[in-house]
Amino acid sequence: MAKIAVVGAGYVGLTTAACFSHLGHEVVCGDIDAERVARLAEGDVPIVEEGLEQLVVDGLRHGRLRFVVGAAAAVAGVEFAYLCVPTPQAPDGAADLTFVESVAAEIGPLLASESIVVNKSTVPVGSTRIVQRALRRPDVLVVSNPEFLREGSAVHDFLHPDRIVVGADDPNAASRVAALYLGVPAPFIVTDPASAETIKYAANAFLAAKISFVNAIAAVCEAVGADVTDVVLGIGSDKRIGHDFLRPGPGWGGSCFPKDTRALVRIAEDAGYDFDLLRGVISVNSQQHARVVDKIRDAAGGSLDGVVVGVWGLTFKARTDDLRDSPSLAIIEALRREGAVVQGYDPTVERELDGIQLCVDPYEACAGARVLAVLTEWDDFRWIDPEHVGELMSARQVVDARNLLERPAWQRAGFTYQGIGR
Ligand SMILES: NC(=O)c1ccc[n+]([C@@H]2O[C@H](COP(=O)([O-])OP(=O)(O)OC[C@H]3O[C@@H](n4cnc5c(N)ncnc54)[C@H](O)[C@@H]3O)[C@@H](O)[C@H]2O)c1
Repeated sequence: MAKIAVVGAGYVGLTTAACFSHLGHEVVCGDIDAERVARLAEGDVPIVEEGLEQLVVDGLRHGRLRFVVGAAAAVAGVEFAYLCVPTPQAPDGAADLTFVESVAAEIGPLLASESIVVNKSTVPVGSTRIVQRALRRPDVLVVSNPEFLREGSAVHDFLHPDRIVVGADDPNAASRVAALYLGVPAPFIVTDPASAETIKYAANAFLAAKISFVNAIAAVCEAVGADVTDVVLGIGSDKRIGHDFLRPGPGWGGSCFPKDTRALVRIAEDAGYDFDLLRGVISVNSQQHARVVDKIRDAAGGSLDGVVVGVWGLTFKARTDDLRDSPSLAIIEALRREGAVVQGYDPTVERELDGIQLCVDPYEACAGARVLAVLTEWDDFRWIDPEHVGELMSARQVVDARNLLERPAWQRAGFTYQGIGR
């Protein structure tokens, strides 16, 4: 079993650290956030991710997982150092490598000879070489091992991935990284670093394109009087297309798709290719946020000024507490710009958010509201009694931006129901 450092204890780093320790490795996870580290050292996991807390607690109890403050404290004597730090969007759309480069510069002098630095952060093509330069250690190799986990099922996805991608110039380094996943049933794709880095961006861009495509089809359905639910069933049944990621909604968001699609447009542009198709995918997504706002305004009778809107769902998707680039927040901001008063509820959000009256349950969010908007696909919302909700509201108007609710039940309770593409 190997000695592994994981730098960054966020969604990816913490999952990586907990899962590698679960596989039997000795893992030290370092983060600059001292408060986060203190909580993790007590087995208190600060993010919502199914099964993660149990793995962290198990790892701590068996002595295979430790948390320390800072990257430097994590890497002493390790054979592998995983970089799982943020790669946010820079103002010009490119991925900002500041975190990655500064960690590489920090740990470079401390790494053992023949150890391997592994990029798990999503980084543009060429970053493996940038990290190699920042390390200033020719005796330490850099390997790309992008992560494809989905928030909400991160532990499952790490331990049961569709594939494991390893990009390395040195075949021996690639084999050493692949060997860390012993016991994980998945095919390996071993390639060069540039291809591994491109696979990650291409995968996210393709998934974003599928969602934008179905949202565009939903708009066509509305225009021609078709029902997108049946259309999706019809096209998804074709094995070449498949059902995954073909759910219309308020548009994609989260910590990855928005920045990664823009970064890929930029990567292509820098390399002399105009990725017009992907720019279209991004533009359809912004239009989708606006289309949901239009529906809510229509439901309110044409103006949002002073209108109370109840919002169910704030996170970018269900089963996570992640609010980063959530379509729900983008839509709420647009509603507020037009004068709406927003009462929001989400099962995992407890902290106050600017301009949203945060409610303790879905019913409170509806009290006195003229329109109810369902913006995140939490299962809990599906089973709420529309009659009870209607009694709390000042008008029976619902905009179901996830096509989540049982439409006939809401219509029977006297609601005017607007979904997406139906
Ligand atoms: N979130 C996802 O679903 C997902 C999936 C695949 C890939 N990725 C990629 O993985 C990377 C990390 O994403 P995330 O969502 O885990 O980010 P995150 O913001 O949740 O976590 C990053 C962590 O790194 C820590 N950190 C920052 N600088 C540090 C330093 N110098 N030393 C030690 N720790 C430091 C931060 O305190 C934070 O806890 C990004 O490149 C992202 O694009 C994310």
